[in-house]
Amino acid sequence: MINLKGRSVSKQVASEPGKTILDIALKNDVDWGFSCTRGTCARCRCLITEGLDQLAKPTDEEFDRLEPEELEEGFRLGCQAIVKSEGSITAVNKTYF
Ligand code: FES
Repeated sequence: MINLKGRSVSKQVASEPGKTILDIALKNDVDWGFSCTRGTCARCRCLITEGLDQLAKPTDEEFDRLEPEELEEGFRLGCQAIVKSEGSITAVNKTYF
């Protein structure tokens, strides 16, 4: 299960290994911030409060766009963070503005 907290909609949805957090949010009508879908705008930034180890490692785009401290705290880019296994994940959309 994945708990997604968008800008105003929160939902618990089925996990989909191989897809990104953003893909899954949009498919389930969760109002997730996004613009570029290529790892540059950071509008899809989210805090993973549970299940960080269920996601594939950060991409080069995430290392470029996010500060090391953000990655350490569990921030990821929703358009880059690929779900790798079916365990529980909680992701909260947190844009900068
Ligand atoms: S949508 Fe722009 S960084 Fe993810």
